[in-house]
Amino acid sequence: MKIALFVFWGIVVFIACNNPTTNNKSTLSTESAGENEEVTIVLEKVLDSPARNSIKVNVDYDQYFKSPKKYLGFSLRPLLDAAWKTAAFDTTHAMVLFECKDGYNPIMDLSKIYGPAQGYIVFKDLDQPDTKNWPDSLSQHFSPYYLVWDKVKKEDKSFFWPYGLTTIRLIPEKEKYRLIQPDSSDAAYPGYITFRDNCMKCHSINKIGGSFGPEFNLPKNITEYRDEKQLIAFAKAPASFRYNSRMPAMTSLSDKEFENIILYLKYMKEHKRDH
Ligand code: HEC
Repeated sequence: MKIALFVFWGIVVFIACNNPTTNNKSTLSTESAGENEEVTIVLEKVLDSPARNSIKVNVDYDQYFKSPKKYLGFSLRPLLDAAWKTAAFDTTHAMVLFECKDGYNPIMDLSKIYGPAQGYIVFKDLDQPDTKNWPDSLSQHFSPYYLVWDKVKKEDKSFFWPYGLTTIRLIPEKEKYRLIQPDSSDAAYPGYITFRDNCMKCHSINKIGGSFGPEFNLPKNITEYRDEKQLIAFAKAPASFRYNSRMPAMTSLSDKEFENIILYLKYMKEHKRDH
């Protein structure tokens, strides 16, 4: 409880210091105007003096170390609770993006974070001597923070365990498309809009989108293994390729729109990102 309060006040102070209209890089900045703004939590600022306020964390199976582990760290949920209460963030359709030093940015749904597993942001491996936070070989990658989960089954691979974690961002779900959207001046942009409105409810790009149909960018972009003409022909008439195809024929799109979709898919080939 002490920790929850500490974190809560930490955030209150930072939000009070930050003028939301200036969109600067302060600890907790509220970007993009509108009622449900994005909330950014820079961990090193929010969790200051970690040694004093941390708790001991037990993880029954750590998926990186492949064993039970003990750490010093902080509970994830009170940190998030405090952040969105403070920012009056609508959590009904929100996701959490974890930003790491190496550019790995996994995204998790709130239902996962608020499910039976408990998330912790840890900074010290208690198997190490007092003078060290991490084994020497890992120290560079693991600091400043590592996200761990207690009560996740060994075989459950649906949780992310990002290390080198620096920032947590709360994103309204509608904003998630921003992560796979070319700049509006880019030639790939019209195809993005067509793809988003016609294909994305079933197909995902970088795991964002529906899962009824196959993912189109990870690990291989579909244009890397399918001929463009065949790809378009398939989308126009799936049943002419596959008996019992579950994909409906995309009859309302023009050839130009399909070409734009291809441009967009090729653009995304250069923007692979496994969240
Ligand atoms: C209602 C869901 C749905 C929509 C909407 C949809 N697809 Fe599909 N798509 C599927 C499913 C399911 C498959 C899996 C193959 C099957 O069932 O034949 C598929 C397969 C494909 C394939 C073949 C992939 C492969 O490697 O074999 C292509 C290409 C494709 N879709 C393109 C598109 C495009 C482009 C759009 C938008 C214009 C689109 N799809 C919209 C459900 C959908």
